[in-house]
Amino acid sequence: MLTLILFWTLVAHSLLLVAAQDFTPSSSWRSPNVTTSQDDRISIAGAALDKTAGFLRSDGSFNDSAYGTPGMLYAQMAEFDRITNQTKYKDVLKKYFPLMEAVRPNFLDEFLNYGLSYGYAAARAYEVYQDETFLDYAITSWTSAGAYTLSDSDTSSGSTPGKSFNVQATCQGITMAGGTFWETDQDNPTIVGLATGSYLVVSALLAEATGNKTYLDAAINSATFIHSHLYNVQNVVQDNISARKNDSCSVGSGINPYNSGLFIEGLAILDSISGNATTQNLLRETIAAAVTNNAWQGDDGIIANWDSKVGDLLMMRGLGAVYWRNTTYSDMRNYVKEYIGVQYNAVLDLATSNGTNVYGASWVGPPSAVFSSDNQTTALSVLINGILLKDQEPPSSNTSDSGSSSGSGSTPDKSSSSPAGAIAGGVVGGIALLVIIGLVVFFVRRRRRREKTRRSVLLDDDFSSSSPLAPTPFIMAPLTSTQSSPDRQPYSPTNSQRSEKVLAGGRSHIGQSSMGEKAALLHAQSTVSLQEGDSTQPRSSTPEAAAAAPGPSNEEPPRVNLPTEELVRLLNERLQAGGHWDEDEMPPEYHTAS
Ligand SMILES: *[C@@H]1O[C@H](CO)[C@@H](O)[C@H](O)[C@H]1NC(C)=O
Ligand SMILES: *[C@@H]1O[C@H](CO)[C@@H](O)[C@H](O)[C@H]1NC(C)=O
Ligand SMILES: *[C@@H]1O[C@H](CO)[C@@H](O)[C@H](O)[C@H]1NC(C)=O
Ligand SMILES: *[C@@H]1O[C@H](CO)[C@@H](O)[C@H](O)[C@H]1NC(C)=O
Ligand SMILES: *[C@@H]1O[C@H](CO)[C@@H](O)[C@H](O)[C@H]1NC(C)=O
Repeated sequence: MLTLILFWTLVAHSLLLVAAQDFTPSSSWRSPNVTTSQDDRISIAGAALDKTAGFLRSDGSFNDSAYGTPGMLYAQMAEFDRITNQTKYKDVLKKYFPLMEAVRPNFLDEFLNYGLSYGYAAARAYEVYQDETFLDYAITSWTSAGAYTLSDSDTSSGSTPGKSFNVQATCQGITMAGGTFWETDQDNPTIVGLATGSYLVVSALLAEATGNKTYLDAAINSATFIHSHLYNVQNVVQDNISARKNDSCSVGSGINPYNSGLFIEGLAILDSISGNATTQNLLRETIAAAVTNNAWQGDDGIIANWDSKVGDLLMMRGLGAVYWRNTTYSDMRNYVKEYIGVQYNAVLDLATSNGTNVYGASWVGPPSAVFSSDNQTTALSVLINGILLKDQEPPSSNTSDSGSSSGSGSTPDKSSSSPAGAIAGGVVGGIALLVIIGLVVFFVRRRRRREKTRRSVLLDDDFSSSSPLAPTPFIMAPLTSTQSSPDRQPYSPTNSQRSEKVLAGGRSHIGQSSMGEKAALLHAQSTVSLQEGDSTQPRSSTPEAAAAAPGPSNEEPPRVNLPTEELVRLLNERLQAGGHWDEDEMPPEYHTAS
């Protein structure tokens, strides 16, 4: 047994070393150093923000974008105020939220991620202004999206109130609970990373703001779903999966930056609430994969997705959260800083004409003279996060400055990524390689035992004590159809190419790529063992509950709350279980794009 522990330690350490080696900024990146002063960066972002806000109509919306885009801007307004210690946009935001809620009751748009952009903005506004009106809006949005998120009772009963079809209980033996549907359309079975990731982030922000375990449970369910079903062998979050019974469990393999961006932001918030080594490692591997992914960027490091070479708001937002929350290892933080710096310089050099304050969506250029609310908010994500970048970081003092605002979740083994640790780790890692062969035997035998016991152990844990077992009836909120998304694309769930609804803005794009058989097999291997996901509990999420929830539920302060710590620990255990697979399990069915 002792030998086993030693082996695992060695392997874990060598894996960590691999991750550490990835965090050297690439020498081919274009212009990573931001040389303008912070004051200048504040004026640049402020001017772009004012320009954008000037295009809002009196009802709080834009005339050129879908329902979600103003919500993205609202969040940026609050973030700008947070960074600059102001309340400049507070009053205007208090005016706009109810107007946008009037257009879509409970902020429930036909596309779940659009509605959740208001939940996100409101949660950020609450964090910045501490005004409970905003918390109420965030809870309202969270609650309406929760009705389109699969609960344990949905998967066990095989149906969910908002959908007409029978629900698939599991894929690869892992529960489908935790996935959020793309659309309210009762016939659309597609669960997407965009909606699930948005729900994850809003849940995590609400958990952080209120300490209420319900939100933390929801965030953990979403994160577990993404990790189990959408995360691929390259550590990238893929696009979608069907939740309809008897549909193939193949994953829609579009690779887009926003899916990973949302996952990164969600993990960064969970890590702030109560971080530990496992959350950190998942965050690290996801960031390493995102920042180097050549599906959406060239060697210059500028995000340029699809043929139109567009930047990505949600990836910037996620990395910005990693940077400012400062819960992370210093090597990774510096890596993220330089990567944001690349985007920052690109946007200013290539995506705008001086003096116009109008920015294009393509950060590799050329600039456009015409204002577009989607393109502008996409660039604003860079301008605002660019303000945060420190002018000059002292070379090596950062390893110990982990005393972040939310420091209770300290990461005990942070120092293991220090240069000395890396060197030592290299030696140890080399030795570890020699014993891997012996380990494989252990692996196989141990895995067999584990797979048999894991499920029952986790089902017996104290999670279940607080779960209401009866399904919560849901009365669907009426949808107004006075405004419809101008650019909605027809969608055929049987076509493995899908039309993407991107960000809040509703740019549409046909995304396609295919996962080869090897990748599919590895994907199965990396997810199958997360069967503990079955022990997650149902959320209660009726609109009535939201309407009845008057203010913040502050009975449990977030960071001293034992159940909270316990839950995060359990999350980490679940995520940690990855990497082992049941060799009897078949690879998932996979249909390549036809
Ligand atoms: C905002 O306040 C914080 C803490 O008081 C300070 O560190 C930061 O520099 C301030 N930011 C600006 C832009 O004034
Ligand atoms: C799913 O497949 C099973 C077994 O083939 C079949 O009995 C059942 O009717 C199918 N369900 C649906 C909803 O198609
Ligand atoms: C904008 O102005 C800066 C300095 O004033 C210059 O370096 C940059 O090339 C200009 N960019 C464009 C697109 O004209
Ligand atoms: C917004 O960006 C897209 C992608 O670069 C571009 O096709 C479109 O023309 C831009 N919109 C405007 C109004 O410039
Ligand atoms: C926690 O949040 C849920 C969902 O909004 C709510 O129903 C519940 O009353 C809250 N719990 C507490 C203790 O405030």
